Amino acid sequence: MERAEILEWLLETDESRLEELWRKADETRQDCVGSDVHLRGLIEVSNRCVRECAYCGISACAPKVERYLMSREEILDCADRAKACGFGTVVMQAGETPAITGEWMAGIIREIKARTGLAITLSLGEREESELRAWKEAGADRYLLRFETTDPELYLEIHPSLPGTVSDRIAQLMGMREIGFEIGTGVMVGIPGQTWETLAQDIWTFRDYDMDMIGIGPYLPSPGTPLDGELGQRLTIRAGDQQVPNDPLTTLKALALTRLVCPRTNIPSTTALATLDPGSGRANGLLRGANVIMPNLTPPHYRVLYQIYPGKAGLHETVDITVARIRTQIEALGRTVGQGPGTSPRMKGQA
Ligand code: 5AD
Repeated sequence: MERAEILEWLLETDESRLEELWRKADETRQDCVGSDVHLRGLIEVSNRCVRECAYCGISACAPKVERYLMSREEILDCADRAKACGFGTVVMQAGETPAITGEWMAGIIREIKARTGLAITLSLGEREESELRAWKEAGADRYLLRFETTDPELYLEIHPSLPGTVSDRIAQLMGMREIGFEIGTGVMVGIPGQTWETLAQDIWTFRDYDMDMIGIGPYLPSPGTPLDGELGQRLTIRAGDQQVPNDPLTTLKALALTRLVCPRTNIPSTTALATLDPGSGRANGLLRGANVIMPNLTPPHYRVLYQIYPGKAGLHETVDITVARIRTQIEALGRTVGQGPGTSPRMKGQA
Protein backbone atom coordinates (compact mmCIF):
# COMPACT_ATOMS: atom_id res chain seq x y z
CA MET A 1 0.00 0.00 0.00
CA GLU A 2 1.25 3.46 -0.90
CA ARG A 3 1.37 6.29 1.64
CA ALA A 4 -1.21 8.31 -0.32
CA GLU A 5 -3.73 5.45 -0.33
CA ILE A 6 -3.96 5.54 3.47
CA LEU A 7 -5.34 9.06 3.39
CA GLU A 8 -7.74 8.16 0.56
CA TRP A 9 -9.10 5.19 2.50
CA LEU A 10 -9.46 7.21 5.68
CA LEU A 11 -11.59 9.72 3.78
CA GLU A 12 -13.64 7.07 1.93
CA THR A 13 -17.38 7.20 2.64
CA ASP A 14 -18.78 4.93 -0.06
CA GLU A 15 -20.08 1.81 1.68
CA SER A 16 -19.38 -0.63 -1.13
CA ARG A 17 -15.80 0.65 -1.42
CA LEU A 18 -15.41 0.27 2.33
CA GLU A 19 -16.62 -3.32 2.06
CA GLU A 20 -13.52 -3.87 -0.06
CA LEU A 21 -11.29 -2.42 2.68
CA TRP A 22 -12.90 -4.67 5.31
CA ARG A 23 -12.49 -7.72 3.06
CA LYS A 24 -8.83 -6.97 2.31
CA ALA A 25 -8.05 -6.44 5.99
CA ASP A 26 -9.80 -9.66 7.02
CA GLU A 27 -8.10 -11.69 4.26
CA THR A 28 -4.70 -10.28 5.18
CA ARG A 29 -5.31 -11.11 8.84
CA GLN A 30 -6.29 -14.68 7.88
CA ASP A 31 -3.30 -15.17 5.54
CA CYS A 32 -0.69 -13.64 7.84
CA VAL A 33 -1.75 -14.45 11.42
CA GLY A 34 -4.51 -17.03 10.90
CA SER A 35 -7.79 -17.55 12.69
CA ASP A 36 -6.42 -17.55 16.25
CA VAL A 37 -7.51 -14.83 18.64
CA HIS A 38 -4.96 -14.53 21.44
CA LEU A 39 -6.21 -13.69 24.91
CA ARG A 40 -3.99 -11.48 27.07
CA GLY A 41 -5.14 -11.03 30.66
CA LEU A 42 -4.90 -7.41 31.78
CA ILE A 43 -3.88 -6.57 35.37
CA GLU A 44 -4.23 -2.88 36.25
CA VAL A 45 -1.52 -2.87 38.90
CA SER A 46 -1.80 0.77 40.02
CA ASN A 47 -3.64 3.96 39.09
CA ARG A 48 -0.94 6.14 40.61
CA CYS A 49 0.70 8.42 38.07
CA VAL A 50 3.14 11.32 38.06
CA ARG A 51 2.25 12.44 34.49
CA GLU A 52 -0.34 14.95 33.38
CA CYS A 53 -1.48 13.56 30.03
CA ALA A 54 -4.34 15.79 28.94
CA TYR A 55 -6.68 12.97 27.89
CA CYS A 56 -6.28 10.59 30.79
CA GLY A 57 -8.72 10.13 33.68
CA ILE A 58 -6.04 8.87 36.11
CA SER A 59 -3.37 11.49 35.38
CA ALA A 60 -1.66 13.25 38.30
CA CYS A 61 -3.98 16.24 37.81
CA ALA A 62 -7.14 14.21 38.47
CA PRO A 63 -7.24 15.04 42.20
CA LYS A 64 -10.48 13.27 43.08
CA VAL A 65 -9.29 9.81 42.11
CA GLU A 66 -8.62 7.45 45.02
CA ARG A 67 -5.21 5.89 44.39
CA TYR A 68 -4.22 2.24 44.83
CA LEU A 69 -1.30 -0.09 44.30
CA MET A 70 -2.10 -3.80 44.16
CA SER A 71 -0.06 -5.97 46.52
CA ARG A 72 2.37 -8.59 45.23
CA GLU A 73 -0.01 -11.35 46.38
CA GLU A 74 -2.99 -9.76 44.63
CA ILE A 75 -1.02 -9.49 41.39
CA LEU A 76 0.16 -13.10 41.63
CA ASP A 77 -3.43 -14.23 42.23
CA CYS A 78 -4.48 -12.50 39.00
CA ALA A 79 -1.62 -14.14 37.11
CA ASP A 80 -2.70 -17.56 38.43
CA ARG A 81 -6.17 -16.72 37.26
CA ALA A 82 -4.86 -15.95 33.76
CA LYS A 83 -3.19 -19.33 33.69
CA ALA A 84 -6.34 -21.08 34.92
CA CYS A 85 -8.38 -19.31 32.22
CA GLY A 86 -6.04 -20.72 29.57
CA PHE A 87 -4.55 -17.38 28.52
CA GLY A 88 -1.03 -17.27 27.07
CA THR A 89 -0.05 -13.83 28.37
CA VAL A 90 -0.49 -11.47 31.31
CA VAL A 91 -0.22 -7.73 30.78
CA MET A 92 0.75 -5.61 33.78
CA GLN A 93 -0.32 -2.02 33.26
CA ALA A 94 -0.11 1.02 35.54
CA GLY A 95 0.34 4.77 35.57
CA GLU A 96 3.91 6.01 35.63
CA THR A 97 4.80 5.91 39.30
CA PRO A 98 7.87 5.58 41.51
CA ALA A 99 5.64 3.47 43.79
CA ILE A 100 6.47 0.68 41.35
CA THR A 101 10.19 0.22 41.89
CA GLY A 102 12.46 -1.66 39.52
CA GLU A 103 13.30 -4.26 42.09
CA TRP A 104 9.74 -4.90 43.31
CA MET A 105 8.47 -5.39 39.76
CA ALA A 106 11.43 -7.62 38.85
CA GLY A 107 10.55 -9.88 41.80
CA ILE A 108 6.95 -10.15 40.64
CA ILE A 109 7.98 -10.88 37.04
CA ARG A 110 10.32 -13.64 38.23
CA GLU A 111 7.59 -15.20 40.38
CA ILE A 112 4.92 -15.08 37.65
CA LYS A 113 7.31 -16.67 35.19
CA ALA A 114 8.28 -19.41 37.65
CA ARG A 115 4.68 -20.19 38.64
CA THR A 116 2.88 -19.90 35.34
CA GLY A 117 5.39 -19.80 32.49
CA LEU A 118 3.12 -17.24 30.83
CA ALA A 119 4.39 -14.57 28.47
CA ILE A 120 4.63 -11.25 30.32
CA THR A 121 3.83 -7.87 28.81
CA LEU A 122 4.56 -4.62 30.65
CA SER A 123 2.83 -1.28 30.14
CA LEU A 124 4.27 0.91 32.89
CA GLY A 125 5.14 4.12 31.07
CA GLU A 126 8.55 5.61 30.40
CA ARG A 127 11.12 3.98 32.67
CA GLU A 128 14.90 4.03 33.19
CA GLU A 129 16.92 1.82 30.89
CA SER A 130 18.38 0.00 33.91
CA GLU A 131 14.87 -0.94 35.05
CA LEU A 132 13.86 -2.11 31.59
CA ARG A 133 16.95 -4.30 31.42
CA ALA A 134 16.28 -5.73 34.87
CA TRP A 135 12.68 -6.53 33.91
CA LYS A 136 13.77 -8.22 30.69
CA GLU A 137 16.33 -10.19 32.64
CA ALA A 138 13.65 -11.20 35.16
CA GLY A 139 11.55 -12.71 32.37
CA ALA A 140 9.36 -9.98 30.84
CA ASP A 141 8.81 -10.49 27.12
CA ARG A 142 7.04 -7.42 25.76
CA TYR A 143 6.60 -3.71 26.40
CA LEU A 144 3.69 -1.48 25.38
CA LEU A 145 4.17 2.26 25.04
CA ARG A 146 1.82 4.10 22.72
CA PHE A 147 3.28 7.14 20.98
CA GLU A 148 -0.30 8.57 20.85
CA THR A 149 0.37 10.91 17.88
CA THR A 150 3.14 11.58 15.38
CA ASP A 151 2.32 15.31 15.24
CA PRO A 152 5.25 16.77 17.24
CA GLU A 153 3.35 19.87 18.35
CA LEU A 154 0.21 18.00 19.34
CA TYR A 155 2.33 15.46 21.23
CA LEU A 156 3.79 18.23 23.38
CA GLU A 157 0.41 19.86 23.94
CA ILE A 158 -1.25 16.70 25.22
CA HIS A 159 1.79 15.58 27.23
CA PRO A 160 2.78 18.73 29.13
CA SER A 161 4.74 16.88 31.82
CA LEU A 162 6.62 14.33 29.73
CA PRO A 163 10.33 15.09 29.45
CA GLY A 164 10.69 14.33 25.73
CA THR A 165 9.32 14.66 22.23
CA VAL A 166 7.54 12.06 20.13
CA SER A 167 10.90 11.22 18.50
CA ASP A 168 12.29 10.53 21.96
CA ARG A 169 9.39 8.21 22.66
CA ILE A 170 9.96 6.30 19.43
CA ALA A 171 13.65 6.12 20.30
CA GLN A 172 12.68 4.59 23.65
CA LEU A 173 10.63 1.95 21.85
CA MET A 174 13.64 1.15 19.68
CA GLY A 175 15.78 0.93 22.81
CA MET A 176 13.30 -1.59 24.24
CA ARG A 177 13.52 -3.66 21.08
CA GLU A 178 17.31 -3.52 21.37
CA ILE A 179 17.04 -4.87 24.94
CA GLY A 180 15.06 -7.79 23.52
CA PHE A 181 11.43 -6.85 24.10
CA GLU A 182 8.69 -7.30 21.55
CA ILE A 183 7.40 -3.74 21.30
CA GLY A 184 3.90 -2.42 21.06
CA THR A 185 2.60 1.04 20.39
CA GLY A 186 -0.56 2.74 19.21
CA VAL A 187 -2.73 5.81 19.02
CA MET A 188 -6.20 7.03 19.89
CA VAL A 189 -8.49 7.90 16.99
CA GLY A 190 -10.16 11.30 17.10
CA ILE A 191 -8.18 13.13 19.77
CA PRO A 192 -8.83 16.87 19.48
CA GLY A 193 -6.26 18.33 17.11
CA GLN A 194 -5.74 15.08 15.18
CA THR A 195 -6.12 15.73 11.44
CA TRP A 196 -6.64 13.14 8.71
CA GLU A 197 -3.09 13.76 7.56
CA THR A 198 -1.76 13.13 11.09
CA LEU A 199 -3.68 9.87 11.45
CA ALA A 200 -2.37 8.71 8.05
CA GLN A 201 1.15 9.53 9.23
CA ASP A 202 0.56 7.61 12.49
CA ILE A 203 -0.40 4.51 10.50
CA TRP A 204 2.56 4.93 8.15
CA THR A 205 4.84 5.17 11.20
CA PHE A 206 3.61 1.78 12.49
CA ARG A 207 4.83 0.37 9.19
CA ASP A 208 8.16 2.22 9.23
CA TYR A 209 9.11 0.65 12.54
CA ASP A 210 7.53 -2.77 11.92
CA MET A 211 5.91 -2.70 15.37
CA ASP A 212 5.11 -6.10 16.95
CA MET A 213 1.83 -4.95 18.52
CA ILE A 214 -0.41 -2.01 17.69
CA GLY A 215 -3.34 -0.85 19.81
CA ILE A 216 -5.88 1.48 18.23
CA GLY A 217 -8.95 2.68 20.06
CA PRO A 218 -11.25 5.69 19.81
CA TYR A 219 -10.52 8.69 22.02
CA LEU A 220 -13.20 8.78 24.73
CA PRO A 221 -13.46 12.15 26.51
CA SER A 222 -12.68 11.82 30.19
CA PRO A 223 -14.69 14.39 32.20
CA GLY A 224 -12.65 17.07 33.94
CA THR A 225 -9.49 16.51 31.88
CA PRO A 226 -7.95 19.40 29.88
CA LEU A 227 -8.65 17.64 26.59
CA ASP A 228 -12.34 17.45 27.50
CA GLY A 229 -12.27 21.20 28.26
CA GLU A 230 -10.67 24.35 27.00
CA LEU A 231 -7.54 22.72 25.55
CA GLY A 232 -9.67 20.27 23.58
CA GLN A 233 -11.81 23.07 22.19
CA ARG A 234 -8.78 25.06 21.10
CA LEU A 235 -7.18 22.07 19.38
CA THR A 236 -10.44 21.11 17.62
CA ILE A 237 -10.81 24.65 16.29
CA ARG A 238 -7.23 24.59 15.08
CA ALA A 239 -7.79 21.34 13.15
CA GLY A 240 -10.97 22.81 11.63
CA ASP A 241 -12.60 20.68 8.94
CA GLN A 242 -9.60 18.32 9.06
CA GLN A 243 -10.47 17.14 12.61
CA VAL A 244 -10.79 13.33 12.75
CA PRO A 245 -14.00 12.15 14.48
CA ASN A 246 -13.74 9.69 17.39
CA ASP A 247 -16.35 7.32 16.00
CA PRO A 248 -16.42 3.53 15.49
CA LEU A 249 -16.24 3.78 11.68
CA THR A 250 -13.05 5.86 11.68
CA THR A 251 -11.49 3.62 14.33
CA LEU A 252 -12.25 0.55 12.21
CA LYS A 253 -10.77 2.19 9.10
CA ALA A 254 -7.55 2.93 11.04
CA LEU A 255 -7.49 -0.64 12.36
CA ALA A 256 -8.05 -2.20 8.91
CA LEU A 257 -5.38 0.01 7.31
CA THR A 258 -2.94 -0.90 10.08
CA ARG A 259 -3.48 -4.58 9.29
CA LEU A 260 -2.76 -3.86 5.61
CA VAL A 261 0.49 -1.98 6.26
CA CYS A 262 1.63 -4.30 9.11
CA PRO A 263 0.27 -7.67 7.98
CA ARG A 264 1.97 -9.82 10.64
CA THR A 265 1.55 -7.62 13.69
CA ASN A 266 -0.63 -8.44 16.71
CA ILE A 267 -3.59 -6.06 16.85
CA PRO A 268 -6.14 -6.07 19.68
CA SER A 269 -9.81 -5.34 19.28
CA THR A 270 -9.61 -2.73 22.04
CA THR A 271 -11.74 -2.21 25.13
CA ALA A 272 -12.15 1.44 24.08
CA LEU A 273 -13.83 0.32 20.85
CA ALA A 274 -16.06 -2.09 22.80
CA THR A 275 -16.93 0.78 25.16
CA LEU A 276 -17.90 3.14 22.34
CA ASP A 277 -19.94 0.48 20.53
CA PRO A 278 -21.02 -2.10 23.14
CA GLY A 279 -23.19 -4.02 20.68
CA SER A 280 -20.67 -4.79 17.97
CA GLY A 281 -17.36 -2.99 18.61
CA ARG A 282 -15.46 -6.05 19.78
CA ALA A 283 -16.69 -8.28 16.92
CA ASN A 284 -16.17 -5.61 14.26
CA GLY A 285 -12.58 -5.17 15.40
CA LEU A 286 -11.99 -8.91 15.01
CA LEU A 287 -13.66 -8.91 11.59
CA ARG A 288 -11.60 -5.97 10.30
CA GLY A 289 -8.04 -6.89 11.15
CA ALA A 290 -7.70 -7.60 14.89
CA ASN A 291 -6.40 -10.90 16.32
CA VAL A 292 -6.04 -10.18 20.06
CA ILE A 293 -8.41 -9.47 22.97
CA MET A 294 -7.28 -8.29 26.39
CA PRO A 295 -9.83 -9.43 29.01
CA ASN A 296 -9.61 -7.50 32.25
CA LEU A 297 -8.46 -9.59 35.25
CA THR A 298 -8.21 -6.68 37.70
CA PRO A 299 -10.23 -7.25 40.89
CA PRO A 300 -13.51 -5.28 40.52
CA HIS A 301 -12.86 -2.97 43.52
CA TYR A 302 -9.66 -1.73 41.82
CA ARG A 303 -11.10 -1.79 38.31
CA VAL A 304 -13.58 0.97 39.16
CA LEU A 305 -10.65 3.19 40.19
CA TYR A 306 -8.76 2.62 36.93
CA GLN A 307 -10.95 4.78 34.75
CA ILE A 308 -8.64 6.14 32.07
CA TYR A 309 -11.93 7.00 30.37
CA PRO A 310 -15.46 6.61 31.73
CA GLY A 311 -17.68 3.57 31.40
CA LYS A 312 -14.96 1.08 30.41
CA ALA A 313 -16.61 -2.02 28.93
CA GLY A 314 -16.93 -4.85 31.43
CA LEU A 315 -16.49 -2.53 34.41
CA HIS A 316 -18.80 -4.43 36.74
CA GLU A 317 -18.49 -7.94 35.31
CA THR A 318 -16.81 -10.86 37.06
CA VAL A 319 -13.76 -12.31 35.31
CA ASP A 320 -15.57 -15.60 34.65
CA ILE A 321 -18.43 -13.87 32.88
CA THR A 322 -16.13 -11.66 30.81
CA VAL A 323 -14.04 -14.62 29.70
CA ALA A 324 -17.02 -16.86 28.90
CA ARG A 325 -18.60 -14.10 26.83
CA ILE A 326 -15.39 -13.43 24.90
CA ARG A 327 -14.86 -17.12 24.12
CA THR A 328 -18.43 -17.43 22.84
CA GLN A 329 -17.94 -14.35 20.69
CA ILE A 330 -14.71 -15.67 19.16
CA GLU A 331 -16.32 -19.00 18.31
CA ALA A 332 -19.44 -17.36 16.89
CA LEU A 333 -17.19 -15.60 14.38
CA GLY A 334 -15.72 -18.95 13.32
CA ARG A 335 -12.41 -18.08 14.91
CA THR A 336 -10.31 -20.06 17.39
CA VAL A 337 -8.92 -19.13 20.80
CA GLY A 338 -5.14 -18.97 20.43
CA GLN A 339 -3.05 -21.38 22.49
CA GLY A 340 0.42 -20.51 23.79
CA PRO A 341 2.05 -17.11 24.09
CA GLY A 342 1.08 -15.68 20.68
CA THR A 343 4.57 -14.37 20.01
CA SER A 344 4.82 -11.81 17.21
CA PRO A 345 5.85 -13.38 13.89
CA ARG A 346 8.66 -10.80 13.55
CA MET A 347 10.13 -12.03 16.83
CA LYS A 348 9.66 -15.69 15.91
CA GLY A 349 11.44 -15.02 12.62
CA GLN A 350 14.49 -13.86 14.56
CA ALA A 351 14.61 -16.85 16.87
N1 5AD B 1 -9.75 7.64 25.69
C1 5AD B 1 -9.26 6.58 25.03
N2 5AD B 1 -8.07 6.02 25.28
C2 5AD B 1 -7.33 6.56 26.27
N3 5AD B 1 -6.11 6.26 26.73
C3 5AD B 1 -5.82 7.11 27.73
N4 5AD B 1 -6.81 7.97 27.92
C4 5AD B 1 -7.78 7.66 27.02
C5 5AD B 1 -9.05 8.22 26.69
N5 5AD B 1 -9.54 9.27 27.36
C6 5AD B 1 -5.25 5.23 26.13
C7 5AD B 1 -3.89 5.84 25.77
C8 5AD B 1 -2.93 5.06 26.63
C9 5AD B 1 -3.66 3.77 26.87
C10 5AD B 1 -3.20 3.00 28.06
O1 5AD B 1 -4.99 4.19 27.04
O2 5AD B 1 -3.62 5.63 24.38
O3 5AD B 1 -1.68 4.83 26.01
